[in-house]
Amino acid sequence: MSQTRPAAESTLRAGVTLLLDEPVRHASGQAAIVEPNVHGHFVEHLGGVVYDGIWVGTESRIANTGGIRTALIESLKRLRPPIIRYPGGCFADAYHWRDGIGPRGARPRRFGRWGDVSDSNQFGTHEFMHFCRLVGAEPYLAANVGTGTPEEFQHWVEYCNAPAADPRVGTTLGAERAKQEVELYGRSPDPFRVRYWGVGNESWDCGGRFTPEDYCTAYRRFSTWLPGYGVPLAPIACGPNGNDVKWTRRFMAKWADGAKAPITAWAPHYYCGTAGTATQFSVDQWYELLERAALMESLVVDQWGALGEFDPSRSIRLAVDEWGCWHPPDPKLPVEFMFAQISTMRDALVAALTLDIFHRHAEKVLMSNVAQLVNCLHSLYMTRGEQVVETTNYHVYDLYAAHKGATAVGLRVDAPSIGYSRGGQPGRLFRVHGSASVREKTATLTLVHTHASEPIDVSVQIRGGAAREASGLTLAHAQLNAANTFENPKEVAPRPLQASVGPSGVMVQLPPASVTRVQVNLG
Ligand code: AHR
Repeated sequence: MSQTRPAAESTLRAGVTLLLDEPVRHASGQAAIVEPNVHGHFVEHLGGVVYDGIWVGTESRIANTGGIRTALIESLKRLRPPIIRYPGGCFADAYHWRDGIGPRGARPRRFGRWGDVSDSNQFGTHEFMHFCRLVGAEPYLAANVGTGTPEEFQHWVEYCNAPAADPRVGTTLGAERAKQEVELYGRSPDPFRVRYWGVGNESWDCGGRFTPEDYCTAYRRFSTWLPGYGVPLAPIACGPNGNDVKWTRRFMAKWADGAKAPITAWAPHYYCGTAGTATQFSVDQWYELLERAALMESLVVDQWGALGEFDPSRSIRLAVDEWGCWHPPDPKLPVEFMFAQISTMRDALVAALTLDIFHRHAEKVLMSNVAQLVNCLHSLYMTRGEQVVETTNYHVYDLYAAHKGATAVGLRVDAPSIGYSRGGQPGRLFRVHGSASVREKTATLTLVHTHASEPIDVSVQIRGGAAREASGLTLAHAQLNAANTFENPKEVAPRPLQASVGPSGVMVQLPPASVTRVQVNLG
């Protein structure tokens, strides 16, 4: 297995057209923005995600802010994460939120869902809300449908969102939350105002092994009695495992038959798996995993199509609230971190091409949450002792941040594809892939170049506008399996890429195996 690329001269050219005059549109005709929540994250009580990754405790020698790792907070603040999903995952369907409130010393230890490890409940609703506020993210909570009740869910919403001392809508649970925030943490009594609520997780498996019809019945019960308290609640229904259109149709047929429970978004999960291992793979396996990751596009299109058969007014959008690579755990990382893996350039390309797919389908995708934030699958961070490493995935989110909230526009790519061997069978992968958006006078174009060893010259035409200036940043490395590690935390980082404006548009040369952002000043 070799991941080193031979040096090569650029021979190929690709054409890219940015269609400023063709914004991505909603069915209403309105131009669609790249929902900031498409760049969302996921935090589960699993392995080293919460305990060690985020929560080190107030007594830790590791610098912390109320028990939360300060170095992680500082890095996330730079990234401005829009939304974080919590507390699972499979963990959510066995979690009782009351275990995670009150004085920390009095909280129960419970069965931990993941591995034979109990959960100390030191990190609960208040700690999660504090974390979200410290990093500027909106919370997204997943309720327990597996071992919980609709009443427990209703009370969690009430605990988070009810005002404390309002004679009309204030409640005892609201007052309990306010008292804890003030007395235990010295913070504001104001409600948390949580909008996004997941009704269970993976209902087809760890969430209760429901049939789609049975889950639909449970969904109705769990989502009907949620109190508003002035917060526009956005309930999210569990979608299928991957692109299982049959599952979606069966749920939606039941949903459409009778009173329709409110659903803001439909949440399929898609993990593209592995090829080789996280850090050891052949060039063919490089292409194979990228091709598998790109199946996210058919998932988005097919799931959207199936939803539309039952929801022609398009009130339900997609929230792909778990996705990413799933490699075998890395033997160099602590075994108790469970799914911890080292993310390489290959994972960066998977992250980038997945975000590009979501941007290109901006009218369909309301939210996505890469699994998971730290010390786990496809993570943005790894921690060891005091150290916090920003992985290759972190750099993709940083490069792509300019798309958040911008108007999504069309992008046409004309580039040759790449043939490779997929376990002895012929495989084929696009060579250049990307997405585009515009905000005021700046167009942002992100491009994934998949070729393992050759660069490519790209000329970018702009339809509906003219380029005055352009600048580029690229994430690339001579090794396909390059990664940021505890020993070399800055091994992979974006560097400037020359982008020149000429009569035929903007010219850039994409390095092999790279993720690039080009920003064009439209004058
Ligand atoms: O992200 C790890 C696990 O993968 C989640 O808990 C579960 O929802 C999924 O199967």
